[in-house]
Amino acid sequence: MKKILDLISEEMQQAFEKAGYAPELGRVTLSNRPDLCEYQCNGAMAGAKQYKKAPIMIANDVVAVLQDSPVFSEVSAVAPGFLNLKVKESFLADYIKQMADDEKFGLEMPATPKKVIIDYGGPNIAKPLHVGHIRSAVIGESVKRIMRYCGHEVIGDVHLGDWGLQMGLVITELKERQPDLIYFDDSYTGEYPTEAPFTVSELEELYPTASKKSKEDPAYKAKAMEVTQQMQSGVRGYRAIWQHILNVSVADLKKNYARLNVDFDLWKGESDVHDIIPGMVEYMKEGGYAYESEGALVVDVKEETDTKEIPPCMILKSDGASLYNTTDLATIQDRMDTYAPDELIYLTDKRQELYFEQVFRCARKTKLVKPETGLKWLGFGTMNGKDGKPFKTRDGGVMRLEVLIKETTDEMFRKITENREMSEEEAKETAQIIALSALKYGDLSNQASKDYVFDIDRFTSFEGDTGPYILYTIVRIKSILAKYKDQGGSLETVTLQAAQNESEKALVMQLTAFNTAVEGACAEIAPHKICAYIYDLANAFNRFYHETKILAEENAERKAGLIALLMLTRDVLETCIDMLGFSAPERM
Ligand code: ARG
Repeated sequence: MKKILDLISEEMQQAFEKAGYAPELGRVTLSNRPDLCEYQCNGAMAGAKQYKKAPIMIANDVVAVLQDSPVFSEVSAVAPGFLNLKVKESFLADYIKQMADDEKFGLEMPATPKKVIIDYGGPNIAKPLHVGHIRSAVIGESVKRIMRYCGHEVIGDVHLGDWGLQMGLVITELKERQPDLIYFDDSYTGEYPTEAPFTVSELEELYPTASKKSKEDPAYKAKAMEVTQQMQSGVRGYRAIWQHILNVSVADLKKNYARLNVDFDLWKGESDVHDIIPGMVEYMKEGGYAYESEGALVVDVKEETDTKEIPPCMILKSDGASLYNTTDLATIQDRMDTYAPDELIYLTDKRQELYFEQVFRCARKTKLVKPETGLKWLGFGTMNGKDGKPFKTRDGGVMRLEVLIKETTDEMFRKITENREMSEEEAKETAQIIALSALKYGDLSNQASKDYVFDIDRFTSFEGDTGPYILYTIVRIKSILAKYKDQGGSLETVTLQAAQNESEKALVMQLTAFNTAVEGACAEIAPHKICAYIYDLANAFNRFYHETKILAEENAERKAGLIALLMLTRDVLETCIDMLGFSAPERM
């Protein structure tokens, strides 16, 4: 479906043409003076020079042509030559009727859908998830859903950090504690046990202990580095433990992400490209891209137009070890070979900006990607505590995802049981659903690149720009619809009608902006635009609700029209929150 603003502009453009002016002048925008009009057109002023006429004369000519317009109920020429516009309720009603009949509420599908890989989540196995990983997961999941809704083929890849020193540290610590484990017996050639020699909670203790020791004891660190190197080069026992760490961690991560309503199509990691690195390095050398500099192998990535220094991209360290870079470049190669995506999108902490600039330039220069392949990076800010520092637990530790979810859920439970009657079980389930909206909306409603303060009191509030407020609005609609049914009404037979009051019209106008909002959020990779849209929509709905008799409406036809409007509002809101990665309960 065409966007509402395009339809309105078309009508205006035809009017300009009929009045003898260039149609291009008839572009309409949303009014920046909603107190005066709904839309506006400034074309008469733009045309003054060309037609050597006072703008107000042009505007008056256009007004004259639009007397019987099916689109405009009011067109007024205002000095010095503005065209202030109001649209007809019947025109809006036609538009939302078409929206309601359309599977995507009027959003047009792309002529050529893109195949996109989104690299998000990025947890490091054996290490607990920190707040940065939570943001990556929440934002990435939403970007994936928005792009999918917009008709693109999207593959989400968790890109595990599963190949670094943290693995060597865990193995080293395990060896210190249990040197007799079969994995450490060099002469052993048989199969290794399928059961891991540690549980997930043991693993969670092993890593921090080892990490602490390595910081205090250089010999320990040297040992861990050697173990890492040996594991990477394929020492059997170490590889077997690595596999256990991976399995145990991934099972736990899957549980955690499921709680966050986040899921990945691919569970690949840095380790997956280990074997293709040597070939890629050769290719970069042979192509003349990579050269040796102070023993290391590097690719220059600076460009003439740079205003700041962009250091070369290091491919191999002087000891031949690969780096974070190397893995990312090899992963790009692997993704191109396996999936041939049109676009790659990465989500990380914004401190990795320069890093991704280097990696992308290097990938282009070395032709790992096609010239037309999109490489995009979305850097997000930090989730801070009220003290303005990165969010921590009360005792100053790394904030674990489970804890964050639990604390929010407990607070939500407290709030909903405070003044509502609900069985314990239902309250628990409902608290979980609302808590997720609080967490996710609290994050997604900010422009991703900005830091924000995690404020549990504000996020869990039923008022203001919050997830619970949006859910509350949806639940309010659902409850009216349920009552309508209880009164014997049928939801199947209701049809949308022209708005009859101002707040109803405002709600309808907000609904008609759905396709514009979603398209913008997708094009700009900006979930906060969906949040802004539904916040406005929820506000428009609630104002309408307070000013309009719905269930008490006596005219059955009018009542049915209002019910149809409620249904469309509910559907649009639920579609949007699904794009944000959460859902609404039946009651709350
Ligand atoms: N594991 C990384 C970290 O914790 C994030 C990975 C992001 N993705 C990537 N392809 N580099 O910082």
